[in-house]
Amino acid sequence: MHPSALLGLLAFAAAVAAAPPGRHLDPHSSYSVKNLKSHIKNVVILEMENRSLDNLLGGQTLKGLENPINHGHYCNPYNLTDHSQGKVCSAAKDFDSILDDPAHSVTGNNIEFYGTFTPDNAAIASGKLTPTQQGFVHEQLRRYGDDVDKTELAKQVLNYYTEDQVPVFTSLVQNYLTFNHWHSDHPGPTNPNRAYVLSGTSAGHGTNDASFNSDVHGLTQRSIFQQLSETNHTWKNYYTNTDMVDAFFFDWTFTSGNTDKAVPLSTFYSDAKAGTLPEFSFIDPSCCGVGTNSMHPTGLISDGEIFIKNVYDALRASPQWNQTLFILTFDETGGFADHVPPPLAARPDNLTYTETAPNGEKYTFSFDRLGGRIPTLLISPWVGKGLVEQKGTNSDGETVSYSASSILRTLGYLWDFDPFTPRVATSASFDHLITNVQRGDTPVTLPQPKAFKVKA
Ligand SMILES: *[C@@H]1O[C@H](CO)[C@@H](O)[C@H](O)[C@H]1NC(C)=O
Ligand SMILES: *[C@@H]1O[C@H](CO)[C@@H](O)[C@H](O)[C@H]1NC(C)=O
Ligand SMILES: *[C@@H]1O[C@H](CO)[C@@H](O)[C@H](O)[C@H]1NC(C)=O
Ligand SMILES: *[C@@H]1O[C@H](CO)[C@@H](O)[C@H](O)[C@H]1NC(C)=O
Repeated sequence: MHPSALLGLLAFAAAVAAAPPGRHLDPHSSYSVKNLKSHIKNVVILEMENRSLDNLLGGQTLKGLENPINHGHYCNPYNLTDHSQGKVCSAAKDFDSILDDPAHSVTGNNIEFYGTFTPDNAAIASGKLTPTQQGFVHEQLRRYGDDVDKTELAKQVLNYYTEDQVPVFTSLVQNYLTFNHWHSDHPGPTNPNRAYVLSGTSAGHGTNDASFNSDVHGLTQRSIFQQLSETNHTWKNYYTNTDMVDAFFFDWTFTSGNTDKAVPLSTFYSDAKAGTLPEFSFIDPSCCGVGTNSMHPTGLISDGEIFIKNVYDALRASPQWNQTLFILTFDETGGFADHVPPPLAARPDNLTYTETAPNGEKYTFSFDRLGGRIPTLLISPWVGKGLVEQKGTNSDGETVSYSASSILRTLGYLWDFDPFTPRVATSASFDHLITNVQRGDTPVTLPQPKAFKVKA
């Protein structure tokens, strides 16, 4: 070896070794990517359903989280056009089960963020119109006001879970890393957001249309599953119910003969135990309602917590734990209030989507902004303890909020693939949040959650 090469190697080793646990390397840097590749061999993603950061993590007292308990209450008028009806503010404790599913279509999010179903797109794009996050209570009353009392409806969308109500999240927040500025990629419902996580675009789909059904498999864009198969990396899509298997959105899964990579959740537990998890595991919860574990209304929050605990405990006991990164995230906010205005973002492609709002007006969306904040955590012996990550940096050096596309941006570094879309290319990566010192103090199991009163 040439002496200068040896010096370079020593300098690299020194730089990596010098960074103490929790100290961040520069994102997108070759040091950081090399560090990520050397420690993480298995990535597990569990994508839950429909909860905002202020809702689920609103009662977490860890410093750095911008939420109601740390930053004061956040209020909405009962009626956006008639302020004489008064206002209501967020408060501690929410229902284990929300009976009235809040609006989370594109136009539903519009009225919650902008106070109108049909905001002026040009004004949004130019920065003249920014979200005020004032319409969550108004829209919940418009949808359900005839049947339920208005203070109960306001609590459903504005209140937040206390640390005691969500002991599994509380332990994870205190022991691992939580993102303070992580948004859904699409200000709309589940399946388009799930498509973003796996392919960096919803390919023009703005709602849960039939293309996502497993018998249609109408999405033709490249997915992470295709990318990994074509480069000889292993993957499985573990599902709780056959009606929610995200790999089945994509036509490629069928035409390439890879439907056998979708397997039931029981296989996840046996693979974790045997140390035979693939490099990439994607776990689908069951959705949506009584007895399901996704946290989607009307399913219980406590049932979702039991599910997360079971997945964590299995990974923690696995012979593969030492080389695992577990990403716990959500698809979207589900219409639950969050006070942080979502930012603009690069269009993934040049497609648009049009829907008819509840008032009969048409609205066309060009996929140029993010949805609300959602809880996302990095869980691994290779992340710092009790950390809160603020905004990130994209490869153009800009400070930006994280989003679901940050996952593909980072996995591209881990498994050597280019960003699938401009949205992914301009996203912040989180390679630098993997440290170079393995922790020995990670909890062996998480607390056992208990069901609480269905009504607050
Ligand atoms: C808001 O107030 C206006 C004027 O009083 C009324 O017409 C409208 O129905 C109210 N909207 C809701 C959602 O209560
Ligand atoms: C994947 O493996 C096959 C069979 O061993 C091999 O022919 C191919 O070149 C590999 N592809 C890549 C991208 O490594
Ligand atoms: C994981 O790392 C810990 C700490 O270094 C070590 O004690 C343990 O043996 C490792 N487990 C496996 C399965 O490699
Ligand atoms: C935009 O759409 C046209 C077809 O309408 C297509 O030819 C073109 O490649 C698209 N551009 C991008 C960046 O996707």
